[in-house]
Amino acid sequence: MCGIIGYVGARQATPILIGGLRKLEYRGYDSAGVSVSSSGASKVVRCRGKLAALEEKLLKEPAPGTTGIGHTRWATHGRPSDENSHPHKVGPISVIHNGIIENHRALRNELAAAGAKFSSETDTEIFAHLVERALVGSADLAAAVRKSLARVRGSFAFVVMSDKEPGTLVAAKNSSPLVVGLGDGENFVASDVTAILSETRKVIFVDEGEMVVVKASGVVVTDFEGKVHPREPKIITWSAVQAEKGGFKHYMLKEIHEQPRAVADTLVGRIDLEHDDVLFDGIDLDVTKIKRIIFIACGTSYHASMVGEFLVEALARIPVEVDLASEFRYRDPILGPGDLVVAVSQSGETLDTMEAIREAKKQGAKVLAISNVVEASIPRLADYAFYTHAGPEIGVASTKAFTTQLVAMALFAIYLGRRTNKLSKERARDLLAELVALPTKMREIVESGAQIQSLARRYGSAIGFLFLGRGSQYPIALEGALKLKEISYIHAEGYAAGEMKHGPIALIDENLPVVVLAPRGPYYEKVVSNLAEVRARQGKVLAVATRGDQDIGSNADDVILIPDTALELQPILTVLPLQMLSYYVADFKGTDIDQPRNLAKSVTVE
Ligand code: F6R
Repeated sequence: MCGIIGYVGARQATPILIGGLRKLEYRGYDSAGVSVSSSGASKVVRCRGKLAALEEKLLKEPAPGTTGIGHTRWATHGRPSDENSHPHKVGPISVIHNGIIENHRALRNELAAAGAKFSSETDTEIFAHLVERALVGSADLAAAVRKSLARVRGSFAFVVMSDKEPGTLVAAKNSSPLVVGLGDGENFVASDVTAILSETRKVIFVDEGEMVVVKASGVVVTDFEGKVHPREPKIITWSAVQAEKGGFKHYMLKEIHEQPRAVADTLVGRIDLEHDDVLFDGIDLDVTKIKRIIFIACGTSYHASMVGEFLVEALARIPVEVDLASEFRYRDPILGPGDLVVAVSQSGETLDTMEAIREAKKQGAKVLAISNVVEASIPRLADYAFYTHAGPEIGVASTKAFTTQLVAMALFAIYLGRRTNKLSKERARDLLAELVALPTKMREIVESGAQIQSLARRYGSAIGFLFLGRGSQYPIALEGALKLKEISYIHAEGYAAGEMKHGPIALIDENLPVVVLAPRGPYYEKVVSNLAEVRARQGKVLAVATRGDQDIGSNADDVILIPDTALELQPILTVLPLQMLSYYVADFKGTDIDQPRNLAKSVTVE
């Protein structure tokens, strides 16, 4: 995720900005830049690459001044490049931005028609143009930002600086985090408290829909209409390391909690509620030519692909196969015209998946990449790329990258279904509405950690676990088992619930916890029968079921209830308690959760 820092005071801004950005480096980025103002003349220095490259550039092109903004960019719209790096400067205005402007395309067209010249591919530059235009004939930066905010939709944290109003920063927040740091005769603004913790511990967390005018002499918080919001500062007592993790004990837990926001970001700009359709910007697939879809992926991404199989077959009625990327090319696959290969990878760098893509391309198939990392090797190798926008994931065990892949699968299936005419407009409308409602439901689940924590304590000393699910819950059972293995080192198996009687039932005794995915739906009765088979053999059943289910309690030892959603989207909710269970079991055992033994975040060997 991108990083933001701003400074207004009496000291030289550049070293403070670079120091703050360095504290945000752990989040991952591909370019960096600063804009620093000295008596109303700002200078932008920015470049692709790491902070060291920016510092080297600053030695040749110093940026003196006591007001400034700095940014580390993690590419979303537009590849990583010098031109796409922030800050973006248009006339007297410099802007840095985290998040995504949903209506960027329409605004770009409108501004271009009015004569605006763009020097980047980013959505951010659009905001700089809007503010510059709003400032014509005025010097009131806050008023110009307010006017421009009324034009943009999406998730954002902006910080804006104007040469016409030296010594002022104006920041605004919607969905992306923003915090103001209060100093003595100087003030700060940042995307994360980590960036300013070495300067001050007195902060104001900016709320949704709030704007802040930051000067050396003080800070004023208002809503987007300019109504003042009186705010009491908080004193941060976290250590620097705790602050990096947002106050959570581990990155994994932080990332579990980030999922509602991550899913909302995956949806930004992709849902066309006016036409009950999905927008796949820049992907001009001829769906009528697709006769078969083959997903290729590894690990967690493979599980997301298995859910994709259910979704695409159910909603678009196109035949789907799912292959482990590491097996794909060795089985001498038969591909032909009409095959679309979809390569799924959170890192975008997995060598097995890259080799599978090469094989597919060699045989003439078109390849769509679903990746979290913009311009990584896999999306560059593919013909088309869909980015999940989950933000960088630091915990090795994938959580938010997975749920955003599931959302990508749902969007893809709806997109295909509308074009194959197998999905009615009405059903698409319902599913899109359910997708939009997901972040709130996800938040409810991730915020109910106490119950799962106590279950983890109860079951955490077991030497093995079984996870069962039917239909699209089967891949979630596999994912639950994988998560538990990865971070707690407890052996776990995921099984299709109906397969249990064909072998694994022999494992069941009073020492084997069996996690059963039993949300409302067509398989519910069958799953309850499987659950009874486990209990008849003294197995301990922990069921994940839909809120309002009156019967499940008498069939299970413990029940985790989750909100209801459309059948097709249930995996996006049922996986959350499993991620949390794994996390708390591992925490109970005291393993190295963020860096589990023997594992790497990107697997670039075969
Ligand atoms: C598990 C996990 C791995 C990856 C796998 C593929 O938590 O993250 O199983 O899913 O190594 O990696 P990507 O998705 O980067 O291709």
